[in-house]
Amino acid sequence: MKNREKVWGICFAGFGNVGQGLAGILADEEEALRRTGFSFQTVAVVTKTRGALVDPEGIALPDLLERVGRGDPVGQDRIGASEAALLPGVDIVADVTPTNLEDGGVGLALTRAALSAGRHVVTSDKGPASLAMDELRALARKNRCTYRFEGTVLSGTPAINFALEAMAGCSIRSVQGIVNGTTNYILTKMEEGFGYAEALAEATKLGYAEADPRGDVDGWDAAVKAQILAGVVLGASIPLSSVRRTGIAHITAKDVNEAARRRRRIKLVARAERTDGGVSASVAPEELPLTHPLASVQGVMNALTYSTDHLDQVTITGPGAGRRETGQALLSDILAIARGREANHRP
Ligand code: HSE
Repeated sequence: MKNREKVWGICFAGFGNVGQGLAGILADEEEALRRTGFSFQTVAVVTKTRGALVDPEGIALPDLLERVGRGDPVGQDRIGASEAALLPGVDIVADVTPTNLEDGGVGLALTRAALSAGRHVVTSDKGPASLAMDELRALARKNRCTYRFEGTVLSGTPAINFALEAMAGCSIRSVQGIVNGTTNYILTKMEEGFGYAEALAEATKLGYAEADPRGDVDGWDAAVKAQILAGVVLGASIPLSSVRRTGIAHITAKDVNEAARRRRRIKLVARAERTDGGVSASVAPEELPLTHPLASVQGVMNALTYSTDHLDQVTITGPGAGRRETGQALLSDILAIARGREANHRP
């Protein structure tokens, strides 16, 4: 019971779409979580442009969400994300900073700092996962803490933990599917008659798109997800540059409509598979017949099919992006840590 009496201190690094999504769930579900034996308290929220707030006694998340919703700053405290991650009351750091695929940005620095100090990290930030997955997992192992990153692929729809934990013991040969919510939403809306720019603006408003949406439409986001899946599910670390990548920016309403007339749909399909030469990964738009299982995955929904030894093919489908949806991914990782389920995340 010792684990269950603990109040877990959380530090938010970033408080944008995903951070607010997680905070909203923690605020709404506080009582329900406590009844199941888990108590969480937010002790720090640090942002790049909207200030920081530290309170060792616990920050009232409903108040904070209301203030931030009004456009007020998070707080006036002067502290950086890496420093906040090391505050005495912090057990778990939620890295919900925007993805930076070039150098990992503040997310990589704070993840290194937190794991080096034995703090658990949960994240939706694809930069550190892309640039330093092996290093971060080794750092977590060395310092007896956990690096969990369910939120990097398919938001809260179980994808990584599903493969590593629910399908433990299966050998996965390949994975393919639709892994970007924004582009799938755009392609669906274009089929409904919306213009490309209008559909992208709506995806941004709904909190699906990356801070820089070129990351979505140029295929980078799907490529990094294929890279992460190759590394953790197929067990082969490959650089992002080795993922063959084509986005959807060149696809016109005419292309979408002509495909529809042929009873087909254009989908941005990501693949990672074992080959004789190692693991190869790619992302490209494909015209699929309407009878193809991926053709019916519409809007922000995503899907992944794992090809395995013991189960043959297993397909999951669910939201691929969204504020609460990604917040749910972080909550599931936080709960896994609170329950002490770490072993399968060890490479
Ligand atoms: N921009 C991403 C998407 C967010 O649209 O899928 C979730 O990773």
